[in-house]
Amino acid sequence: MKWEPVHRFDHATTKNRSQIDSLGHDQALDCLATALARDWQWGKPSGKRDAMPAYPATRMRRLRQADWTRRLVRQHVLTPNDLIWAVIISDQAKPEPVAAMPGVNRLTLTTLREAAIEAQDLGIPAIALFPHIDPAKKDEAGSEALNPDGLIPQAIKVIKQAAPNVGVICDVALDPFTTHGHDGVLKDGVILNDATVDALVEQALVQASAGCDVIAPSDMMDGRIGAIRMALEENGFTDTLILSYAAKYASGFYGPYREAIGSATALTGDKQTYQMDPANTEECLREVELDLEEGADMVMVKPGLPYLDIVKSVSETFGVPTFAFQVSGEYAMIEAAAANGWIDGGRVMLESLMAFKRAGASGIITYFAPRAARLLGEE
Ligand code: PBG
Repeated sequence: MKWEPVHRFDHATTKNRSQIDSLGHDQALDCLATALARDWQWGKPSGKRDAMPAYPATRMRRLRQADWTRRLVRQHVLTPNDLIWAVIISDQAKPEPVAAMPGVNRLTLTTLREAAIEAQDLGIPAIALFPHIDPAKKDEAGSEALNPDGLIPQAIKVIKQAAPNVGVICDVALDPFTTHGHDGVLKDGVILNDATVDALVEQALVQASAGCDVIAPSDMMDGRIGAIRMALEENGFTDTLILSYAAKYASGFYGPYREAIGSATALTGDKQTYQMDPANTEECLREVELDLEEGADMVMVKPGLPYLDIVKSVSETFGVPTFAFQVSGEYAMIEAAAANGWIDGGRVMLESLMAFKRAGASGIITYFAPRAARLLGEE
């Protein structure tokens, strides 16, 4: 039963809405007193929430009237502890700007070192690495992903050496390394699931051996979490965490990222045979359930803001650490509007990050991390 305050007025007074509207203040208070007495006599109506007294006994603005009241009743908090910094790295000599992501550069190993120290100083718990691979090193199978001396293993070591208290999260997927830009092994136009899983296990072991703290498979193959977990256990990496991109949708919001890692021109076709259909809700719960059973410690929903319903249902259903990825397209939209003076970029950035917390996310992977942490430090 939905309890409309005005019905309670109607009921208590046998007056209709326009009569109520024309009541004077004292008469309205009398009506309210009568209605409250009836509530008390009859008990609260059954339903999801307790009924609350109507206006003017309740004036919602009382709690919003001053900074101190607002701070006192604030429900969610956003701190640098909630942020994972998404960082693009390349093996080039100089940092290069990513055109579709103003403010984001592909970092070199030297500038990555500075970024790691910056993250540590700002209290950002972890960095997530994404590689831009020299096209000359790409092949059909993405074999550079398995190179123990490749860009990612080197980057892991740089961070661990410069800022030992910053966690390192590595994407497990083949797309930065393949000539066709797909996350898996492609044969006759089909992404082979099990052959891909074999490669992903190797890739994860290379990362764990280099000192990666969190393995984050983003490829959406079936069974890869279980296979990676088993391989980690067998090889003594019993403390290596797995953050599964469990509910990852086939999304247009990844566009700028593909430019950032240089797979935009490479990609043939789309990723709809392995990433989820944006029209589906229930499927995300099955994906998450499987990954948890297979040994994921944490799960991720991706993209972020357009999928807050998914974040909420995953975090409520499973009660496990649930992360959201504010992806490249979300970043680009906010930056583009801010650059045009259409929105206040800093304000919208923090508001969007808070929205993830409200939906139940434990944290957010975001390209905004250092800027957001700095702004939060000023508040
Ligand atoms: C690839 C991967 C993608 C992103 C992270 N890992 C792109 C894709 O699936 O096509 C997107 C990140 C972003 O858009 O910021 N496995």
